[in-house]
Amino acid sequence: MTARKVIIDCDPGTDDAIALFLALASPELDVALITAVGGNVGLDHTLRNARALVGLTGKPIPVVAGADRPLLGSFIPEPRVHGRNGIGGVTLPDGPPVTPGLGSDAIREVLRAAAPGEITLVGIGPATNLALAVASEPALLDRVAEIVLMTGAWAEGNVTPAAEFNAWNDPEALAIVLSCGRPITLATLELTAQALATPDWIAAQQGRGGACMEAAHTILASVPPSPRLGGRGTPQHDACAIAWLIAPELFTHRAVHAAVDLTRGPGRGRTVIDRWGKLPGPRNAALLETLDAPGFFALLARRIAALP
Ligand code: RIB
Ligand code: CA
Repeated sequence: MTARKVIIDCDPGTDDAIALFLALASPELDVALITAVGGNVGLDHTLRNARALVGLTGKPIPVVAGADRPLLGSFIPEPRVHGRNGIGGVTLPDGPPVTPGLGSDAIREVLRAAAPGEITLVGIGPATNLALAVASEPALLDRVAEIVLMTGAWAEGNVTPAAEFNAWNDPEALAIVLSCGRPITLATLELTAQALATPDWIAAQQGRGGACMEAAHTILASVPPSPRLGGRGTPQHDACAIAWLIAPELFTHRAVHAAVDLTRGPGRGRTVIDRWGKLPGPRNAALLETLDAPGFFALLARRIAALP
């Protein structure tokens, strides 16, 4: 099996932390680069958290700082969910030094050295870095096999009634990525609502692995169950994007057209996802629809337990 070469753009972020552990624990993926973006919390924290998480795994993955604000407008974090430091107040040992440079430049450098269709981009935060990379050098897009995004919702949002947080944080960036012409796969809130880490499951992970599992357990235990989802558990949004690449058999999906509302009103950041072909025009994305949740959590537990 040839590992899929991926770049992960993230804003750790409690669920980003679990997604990064899953990615770095999985032989199906060859993580060439991790870029940090401002999102759940400021870039100073997301960058530190990304380095610390990679450091715990012992994997020599370059971590590069990206954008600290959206393309337009001001930066608005979400510390209510992820805590002031972005990982629930959990303190991790400092990770390896940041790799110098700018995230979007680092993404383009990896693409420039790649063969056609060799790289998969994974966006699990606001899409600013991905948009800057694809918009500034479109000629590199043929190196991109697929872009997997945890973003959006076809029903209710989580940061506003209309919008999911990543889409809302930088809707112009998402619009650029959605229209770039490469295959897009979307893990929206409706999919990630099926990936609820229950308090019992979280408790059962304690002591089941090394430092990474201990960190995952402590971080997960710091997040209260989501009131939006009936208080039954904590949605593992970002790990769904990674699991799609590792175990696609856990998912069903359908072709859709996806766009994002760029107005400045109450609908800003809403992803308008045409699931029934109501509108003319191309279907530019695959919408992940169902998840085998028991299979997902068995994979998650097994992989993270195997980390150092
Ligand atoms: O709406 C959920 C998304 O926003 C996740 O990626 C979470 O980490 C936050 O970035
Ligand atoms: Ca995230």
